[in-house]
Amino acid sequence: MGRYKEEPKICHCCYHLLLVLCLCVWFPSSSSGNAKEEKGAPVGYGYSIEAVSLDSSRKSLTAHLALINNSSVYGDDIQRLTFFASLETKDRVRIKISDRDKKRWEVPESVIVRRNHENSPEKLEILSEKRVFLLYSTSDLVLTLYNTTPFGFSISRRSSCDVLFDTWPIKSDPDTFLVFKDQYLQLSSKLPMDRSSLYGLGEHAKSTFKLRHNDTLTLWNADLYTAILDQNLYGSHPFYMDVRSPSADGRVKAGTTHGVLLLNSNGMDIFYYGDRITYKIIGGVIDLYFFAGPMPDVVMQQYTEFIGRPVAVPYWAFGLHQARYKYKNVQALERVVAGYAKARIPLEALWSDIDYMDGCKDFTLDPVNYPPDLMNEFVDKLHRNGQKYVIILEPGININKTYGPFIRGMQDDVFIKRDGKPYMGIVWPGPVYFLDFLNPATAIYWGREIKMFRDILPADGYWLDMNEISNLYFTSPPLPHSTLDNPPYKINNALFREPIINRTVPPSAVHFGNITEYNAHSIYGFLEAKVTHAALINMTGKRPFLLCRSTFVGSGRYIMKWTGDTNSTWNDLAYSIPSILNFGLFGIPMVGADICGFFDNPTEELCRRWIQVGAFYPFARDHSDKYIRQELYLWKSVAASARKVLGLRYRLLPYFYTLMYEAHKKGTPIARPLFFSFPEDVETYEISSQFLVGKGVMVSPVLIEGATSIHAYFPAGNWFNLFNYSKTVSHYTGKYITLEAPPDDINVHMREGNILAMQGEAMTTTEARKTPFRLLVALSSSESSTGQVFLDDGEEVEMGEEGGDWTLVKFKSWMSGNTAVVKSQVINGNFALKEGWIIDKVTCIWLDHNARFHIVERSDISLSIGKNINMVIKLNLKTCC
Ligand code: GLC
Repeated sequence: MGRYKEEPKICHCCYHLLLVLCLCVWFPSSSSGNAKEEKGAPVGYGYSIEAVSLDSSRKSLTAHLALINNSSVYGDDIQRLTFFASLETKDRVRIKISDRDKKRWEVPESVIVRRNHENSPEKLEILSEKRVFLLYSTSDLVLTLYNTTPFGFSISRRSSCDVLFDTWPIKSDPDTFLVFKDQYLQLSSKLPMDRSSLYGLGEHAKSTFKLRHNDTLTLWNADLYTAILDQNLYGSHPFYMDVRSPSADGRVKAGTTHGVLLLNSNGMDIFYYGDRITYKIIGGVIDLYFFAGPMPDVVMQQYTEFIGRPVAVPYWAFGLHQARYKYKNVQALERVVAGYAKARIPLEALWSDIDYMDGCKDFTLDPVNYPPDLMNEFVDKLHRNGQKYVIILEPGININKTYGPFIRGMQDDVFIKRDGKPYMGIVWPGPVYFLDFLNPATAIYWGREIKMFRDILPADGYWLDMNEISNLYFTSPPLPHSTLDNPPYKINNALFREPIINRTVPPSAVHFGNITEYNAHSIYGFLEAKVTHAALINMTGKRPFLLCRSTFVGSGRYIMKWTGDTNSTWNDLAYSIPSILNFGLFGIPMVGADICGFFDNPTEELCRRWIQVGAFYPFARDHSDKYIRQELYLWKSVAASARKVLGLRYRLLPYFYTLMYEAHKKGTPIARPLFFSFPEDVETYEISSQFLVGKGVMVSPVLIEGATSIHAYFPAGNWFNLFNYSKTVSHYTGKYITLEAPPDDINVHMREGNILAMQGEAMTTTEARKTPFRLLVALSSSESSTGQVFLDDGEEVEMGEEGGDWTLVKFKSWMSGNTAVVKSQVINGNFALKEGWIIDKVTCIWLDHNARFHIVERSDISLSIGKNINMVIKLNLKTCC
């Protein structure tokens, strides 16, 4: 470790860089302009740099930090820290601050995928001693270490000098100092209040997608009510996306975006003040990752390269699902399937909640209400109809000496322990021991139990619930003097600093390898998902269908997600949009809220409006608690709306599925905030009540009781209503407009410049897949139109792998005089050719310069989708409607 004693020798080219940086990099002492931000040597807190060195490959830097002075709250400060900065790829910088003398809990490396670019040419350069500037030779990210007392660091952009993160403390504000204790870590960064829009940091129910100033975001996985805004919920995702508005000097363009992840699984509060973000964490290390972007979709690509790309889900996952807590018996299930069929509403899968179990015990069937023979007949019948069956599983195994899974669990020693004995909690079946998914033996146990039960009941998909872990009916007393059960800093659990021991496994409980629940708590659902996903692939050789409630960074590699126990209220309908958009940012694009709401009785109107939105959630499932029935066929107007919107969803299935492919390959969400397609339009940063499906379909729902119109934002361009193409919206600049939204209607628009490859409506996805393709081309006079479709069998484990059986067709179209050219470029056409898919219709729609609508259809065709097409369509400009 070389100490910094001499002025480093700066070579000629570095000298130039230094000049650039001196002009560019934000200097803490001169930038403030805010009287509150008095800078300088602080009293009593913080660390200073003792030594700095680069590793021999010049890809990482280590600085030794020494405590300046003990602070008095939440225990003793750690004296010596290591600051480690590493340039893992051109677009990703890691900053890790940890105890130099003692190993601490860190999120296991297996939780993320990382993928460093080992052979990249980037190197760190140290350019000045006083303020240590470091950068990649080709990266836009610049790290600055302030070799001051106390030390600080910032990350900024070389291209625009924009400071993305800056931890240099404010003397008068102890909350801005780096604090590092055994059970209290604090880190704070300044943010440019007027130019920074933050999204992410979940899981919470939020009324807005954009985070509000003065929000406190607590992360600690918990089975709490989604109806209570801002409460910590089932998952922990300490990741945010920061979308910047333009800077006054014009160097930062609107929509320039970066991402920040704090990879830490301990409980934490994140205070977002608008001009600052402050993390207060109760354990682990500070492990920060900066993703350079510079656009939202590129951030997602970089983020999911690190945490792992979203799992491929089976094609049938995009159908309509029906669940309910308290279907009394198998006959009740049969009636629901029949109800959908009679009402001609598509139903892809019927789900069983814990009702199918005997006494709510995993891997059992209620012998009276769900006897094995009738259940098998029922599942067979579903399969004959092309439908599927999904069941719930719980992580708590009933303590019962006559129950096989319990006996085997004890033999295999797979339960979480406290005081050397399996820890007892209370959930649906009564007393339970919780499976320890950190234990490799549990993976074997769990896979074996699922397999054994599949032989009794061949379910097609699984639903992992209560894995926060929810200790539903029970809170154990804390162990005397345990600082794990009762840590000095109380996070804002349940919005009132409720003890973190409440309603979960006590933090002092231990997992395999002596890992405490305190540390592993929020990765439990992740671990269960990982183990279950692997077990299902092992068993079936097919793409698993797995829904999960509790999530962590990286869970998207294994599962789909629903937003938990919503209320059947208009508010919860509205909150579902921020929730779904957030999970897109968390790398879990296959997400949906319970359609019509979970708790309470929905009204007919609410249920109608909910299916109108829910039909465009990536994952669409109607599910409810023991309240009035809310299957979509029960109310006439709901059924009519369901037929209409699900009709469009099923026609759009190839589009949804192709978006899954894009998510799987690049991490781009399926449901996207408007700023993904219109980052230059700052108005889109504020929108919480509309979303895009893919790049070019916009959903603008009614979210208010009694409303028959919407006030919705339309970014610049021509927009065509997908239910009635001739209803259009057209603006040169983005605008809020009021549109009619009668009770049976939702506004869904497609923007010019897009091509949708659609198929026909059907009662199941299997049937829909047998229908011919139809291209809908929204022509534009100012840009080419593009679209693509990905085709495979919908169940092979990987999606679009080299050598796999799949086809990708890229479409492009443009106007040329009085014609439209429609072309396709086929990659791997054999799969589509083998399946025999054809395109039997091409519809072109456009607006002329006077905003008059035009449509031309070619339905005299039968083109193989597996072969390149090159059509010229005459645009009869007189064909106006
Ligand atoms: C939890 C789940 C809910 C389920 C219920 C009964 O509350 O979130 O979806 O219906 O448990 O299993």
